[in-house]
Amino acid sequence: MSIYQSILVDHDEHVGIVTLNRPNELNALNFQLVSELANALEELDRDEEIRCMVITGAGEKAFAAGADIKEMSDKSPIEMMLGDFQTWERIRRIHKPLIAAVGGYALGGGCELAMHCDMIVASENTRFGQPEINLGVMPGAGGTQRLARTLGKYRTMEMVLTGVQVTAQEMADHGLVNRVVPKGEHVREAVKLAKEVAARGPIAVRLAKQAVLASFETTLEEGLEMERKNFYLLFATEDMREGMRAFIEKRRADFKGR
Ligand code: CAA
Repeated sequence: MSIYQSILVDHDEHVGIVTLNRPNELNALNFQLVSELANALEELDRDEEIRCMVITGAGEKAFAAGADIKEMSDKSPIEMMLGDFQTWERIRRIHKPLIAAVGGYALGGGCELAMHCDMIVASENTRFGQPEINLGVMPGAGGTQRLARTLGKYRTMEMVLTGVQVTAQEMADHGLVNRVVPKGEHVREAVKLAKEVAARGPIAVRLAKQAVLASFETTLEEGLEMERKNFYLLFATEDMREGMRAFIEKRRADFKGR
């Protein structure tokens, strides 16, 4: 496993855990952190022992308070283009499921990072928001698109145009948070959820994630076609034989990812 400066990488059984580790700066996402995060996630994506990943932030106050404003404040458009913003694309392309374990502030790029994940577990003290408008800019790592696809136009407009902070419970009511848990419990709950995913067949999980994500980017016709092909493909796996045999034999399936 590589050595990183701004993140910590750990694992619990088949779950990779990546912690954003700049607590004194509320885990602000500077270029180095985002690049290390993408490298670590890609490394875990290639690791056959890992089946699901959890992303969280160090300290009690924040998941991440957004892109690093001090680092960004004197950047040119080209420097921004060549910097971390391409790196977000690499996070979007991770094949294994990502679960955000969010406690405290998830603002700007922090909210956007949570939304790059496939599920979100948030502690009750979490505040989501896209406050970029207060800095004279706007969300640049998917905030306008991913919020609108889940919350709809009107609530998204309010968040993006006023920078208002929203509670975990309100986000859960809108379908953007899977589980709201007591303060301090978010990592434990996220790892528990990740272990549930990790107990399933890794190839089926990967193809199912791909199909769900396709629903955001394709017509219904194309999405259904992809779903069907992924479904057929799984009949070529040992895991499919094992899963169905285990059901018939009334025992728990032992999936190998083959
Ligand atoms: N970038 C750089 N440093 C940050 C930061 C950020 N986004 N957020 C917090 N920090 C730093 C603070 O400067 C402070 O450092 P010092 O001790 O050296 O002064 C430290 O973290 C603690 O922060 P505060 O003292 O401000 O803590 P607070 O409890 O008073 O306030 C907060 C917390 C409301 C989250 C406040 O820190 C804040 O508003 N942060 C900025 C949030 C923001 O605007 N995020 C959007 C960034 S732009 C973006 O993300 C673009 C994109 O789309 C990717």
